Amino acid sequence: MTVLSRFRLDGKVAIVTGASSGLGVAFAQALAEAGADVVLAARRVDRLAETAKLVEDCGVRALAVATDVAVPTDCDAVVAQAMAEFGRVDVLVNNAGVGTAVPSTRETVAEFTKVIDVNLNGCYWMAQACGRVMKPGSSIVNISSILGITTAALPQAAYSASKAGLIGMTRDLAQQWGGRKGIRVNALAPGFFHTEMTEQYPPGYFEQTMLRVPLGRKGDPEELAAALIFLAGDAGSYVLGQTLAVDGGITIT
Ligand SMILES: NC(=O)c1ccc[n+]([C@@H]2O[C@H](COP(=O)([O-])OP(=O)(O)OC[C@H]3O[C@@H](n4cnc5c(N)ncnc54)[C@H](OP(=O)(O)O)[C@@H]3O)[C@@H](O)[C@H]2O)c1
Repeated sequence: MTVLSRFRLDGKVAIVTGASSGLGVAFAQALAEAGADVVLAARRVDRLAETAKLVEDCGVRALAVATDVAVPTDCDAVVAQAMAEFGRVDVLVNNAGVGTAVPSTRETVAEFTKVIDVNLNGCYWMAQACGRVMKPGSSIVNISSILGITTAALPQAAYSASKAGLIGMTRDLAQQWGGRKGIRVNALAPGFFHTEMTEQYPPGYFEQTMLRVPLGRKGDPEELAAALIFLAGDAGSYVLGQTLAVDGGITIT
């Protein structure tokens, strides 16, 4: 095996949640470029159809499945459809997420709970469903955030709690499944990447935050997708339970 062949995912099947916009689209495309068939899960099926076209243009198969990751039966259903269509699941990218910024004294139960339901619980339901069918050599990559490690000047208790929780879940599933099932579980902690989620920042916030980033710029989703491919396949075969910050250095400041 040459070093570059370790990054190939030919013949493998990957599920990407939140594949209808932003980073999920970049992840789906990168997995397809690496040779994997890709199952695309999110609520907006019209947008999933656009991602499916990008995947198929790489010469691999795509399957779009309407999924709300906060609903455990939806998570079971997308994995069942992947198994019915492709017969295997090798990679899960737990990417679906919602971002909020609400001062904590004003945050409602519903607002806080929704973020945890999607960003943390949703990843667990997906991991459970995949963990039941994945064979040794499979891999789960949870998309956490630098907000799971540090703060960034906005009131984001729910979001930060969900992303820090995901780092803990990554560690625990890694120790449960790494040796016994041969399923590696790791996380990415992205810094700032321009997507629909980051379009909601208050005026001036982004410019101010960039002063804290040693590389002095936001990331390109392709730079994050490269790290995903490393963790997803054989290139990362001895990496277990880790959270890799891809953040231009903000977490070292
Ligand atoms: N962009 C950044 O700078 C950044 C930094 C750190 C971490 N992240 C993380 O990266 C991930 C992707 O974010 P993004 O920036 O690409 O944001 P985005 O463009 O808003 O994408 C979020 C995705 O999550 C999906 N989603 C939301 N709720 C869902 C649910 N209940 N069930 C299924 N899918 C759901 C959305 O699809 P539907 O609406 O169609 O369901 C959408 O595809 C998130 O977990 C986010 O926290 C992003």
